[in-house]
Amino acid sequence: MDGPSGTGKTTVARTLADRLGAGYLDTGAMYRAITLAALRSGIDVADADAVTTAAKAAELEVGTDPNTPVALLDGGDVAAEIRGDAVTSAVSAVAAVPAVRDLLVDQQRRIIAGVLADVGGIVVEGRDIGTVVAPDAPLKIFLTASANVRAARRLAQDSAAGRESNHVDVLRSVDRRDRLDSTRATNPMRPAYDAVEFDTTDLGVEGVVTSLCELAEQRGILAGRGTTS
Ligand code: DC
Repeated sequence: MDGPSGTGKTTVARTLADRLGAGYLDTGAMYRAITLAALRSGIDVADADAVTTAAKAAELEVGTDPNTPVALLDGGDVAAEIRGDAVTSAVSAVAAVPAVRDLLVDQQRRIIAGVLADVGGIVVEGRDIGTVVAPDAPLKIFLTASANVRAARRLAQDSAAGRESNHVDVLRSVDRRDRLDSTRATNPMRPAYDAVEFDTTDLGVEGVVTSLCELAEQRGILAGRGTTS
């Protein structure tokens, strides 16, 4: 599942994984944790070599249970810190470094293979999952939503997490990040040629998840996997 920020990806992907009894991987959390490692080491995130060194040194661990998000950096819980402004502003620069992407794509593929072997299914969210990380995935979704709705959702998340912001600033930040993520040279965000595009502007989480469950069923992905409700 790919798409820009604020399209509801995380909520939809976690809910869908839970409903299907599948694992879940938030690849954005991995780019965010590497960004935090770079910021903590005090380097300039525009320095690709220094970012690569920091990424290679970082001990990263992410959970794959949709109900228990876990993000550990060097053994410490960073789940909240990686959502803060400092990381959000710097993450696109870090995610544009080819060596960082190679490193994380390798890790993501290993995690996916492990969960597929253990649990039998996984919902993976990011920007390049359908195009690069899992080009053979049996169902690829690209979520979209209007810029205003995406900013409003980000603002709601920020205020729920106690982070101060306003609509204009959030809209600017969301726009900037999506422009950087979709125009970078390596693995830019874009729908895979065979992705199903879903506009979530006027749809609640439940509506999107129900449609995706139906789609998964039509594709035969749930055969032998029990229930969809
Ligand atoms: O999904 P998110 O907002 O937590 O992602 C944070 C950043 O990480 C996003 O701006 C782009 C980058 N990212 C990426 O380049 N590739 C991915 N597969 C996932 C995220």
